[in-house]
Amino acid sequence: MGMAKRTIIKEPNEVLRKRSKEVTEFGARLHQLLDDMRDTMYATAGVGIAAVQVGILFRACLVTTDDKGIIELVNPVLIKAMGKKSGEEGCLSVPNHHGMIIRPTKVTVRAQDRNGEYFEHTFEGRGAVCVCHELDHLDGVLFIDRLP
Ligand code: CO
Repeated sequence: MGMAKRTIIKEPNEVLRKRSKEVTEFGARLHQLLDDMRDTMYATAGVGIAAVQVGILFRACLVTTDDKGIIELVNPVLIKAMGKKSGEEGCLSVPNHHGMIIRPTKVTVRAQDRNGEYFEHTFEGRGAVCVCHELDHLDGVLFIDRLP
């Protein structure tokens, strides 16, 4: 199967407000979804994407890091957050909107990869902002909810 660009769901849409479900099967369907999410993210010049944004309520997202390229996170859990900084954010699901949001400067996440293997990764800088933004998506939260 090749990769394919999927349609990004945009606000207002109640799907974006739902809590995504734990991924329990690490097979072809998940792999195709992750490949398509990557293709969709590239095609739309995004730096991160969550499965809910293409209408799939799986706890899975892609995050662009400052040092390791794009990392796939399945069932990610935030285990440590440090620092605070205000930075500009936007979202593929909230077109033509940007805002200054306060986020941690360094976060450690425990997650599974596309084959179900557990790993931990520490994100810094823009990567920390991106991972917090994508984890919010998995709980139905958008950056506009965090505007002061
Ligand atoms: Co977003």
